[in-house]
Amino acid sequence: MIITIDGPAAAGKGTLASKLSKKYNLAYFDTGMVYRAVGLELMLAGISPEDVEKATDFAQKLTFQRMNELSHHSEFRSANGGKYASVVSSYPQVREALLQMQQNFAKNPVFADGSKADGAIYDGRDTGTVVCPHADVKLFITASPEVRAERRYFEFMSRGHQALYADVLEDIKARDKRDSERATAPMKPAEDAVIFDTSALTIDEVYQKAVKIIDSKQ
Ligand code: C5P
Repeated sequence: MIITIDGPAAAGKGTLASKLSKKYNLAYFDTGMVYRAVGLELMLAGISPEDVEKATDFAQKLTFQRMNELSHHSEFRSANGGKYASVVSSYPQVREALLQMQQNFAKNPVFADGSKADGAIYDGRDTGTVVCPHADVKLFITASPEVRAERRYFEFMSRGHQALYADVLEDIKARDKRDSERATAPMKPAEDAVIFDTSALTIDEVYQKAVKIIDSKQ
């Protein structure tokens, strides 16, 4: 089984994907990681995210192993890391270079310890439309920018990062705009995706709702 969960930043995709991956024994691919990894390569090399050529070069060379190494860096999930990721993800050449790697994951889905999974679950912006257009279940999770900024703000705080709520909100709005207005693979629900707004729902309510949808499609 392949499940895709798309939607804007901090809508709760990652939390939901982790819970569903356990319930259905699915290997989880957080596809934002590929763009964060390319963004961080640029940041570490002191190169501007506006450098399309260098960004494409890093994207073409990215491996799973390198991505996992970079994911331990403190800037990987920082606000600045998110900004770099959002900028590099708007380049069609970068997206093209990273597509195969994402699609290959579903061909032989395995957990981090190498054991075989019963399928794959993806989260991102275009996993139901571009990465896995033939997925069995597609979800599109959203929430108001204010609710998402609050969630992201508390996430930063719990990681020991400094942030201001107003800055986080502004950043979320800028990322939404960039993600949904870019020419290649813009963030949008697949035609056959089930859309739900999590603004007024608890994590457990979102999870129960998703389980019902998945079980009804199986
Ligand atoms: O989900 P996350 O915040 O980690 O993603 C980082 C950035 O990568 C997003 O702001 C978005 O611009 C980009 N992204 C994307 N397509 C995906 C996943 C993430 O463009 N499938």
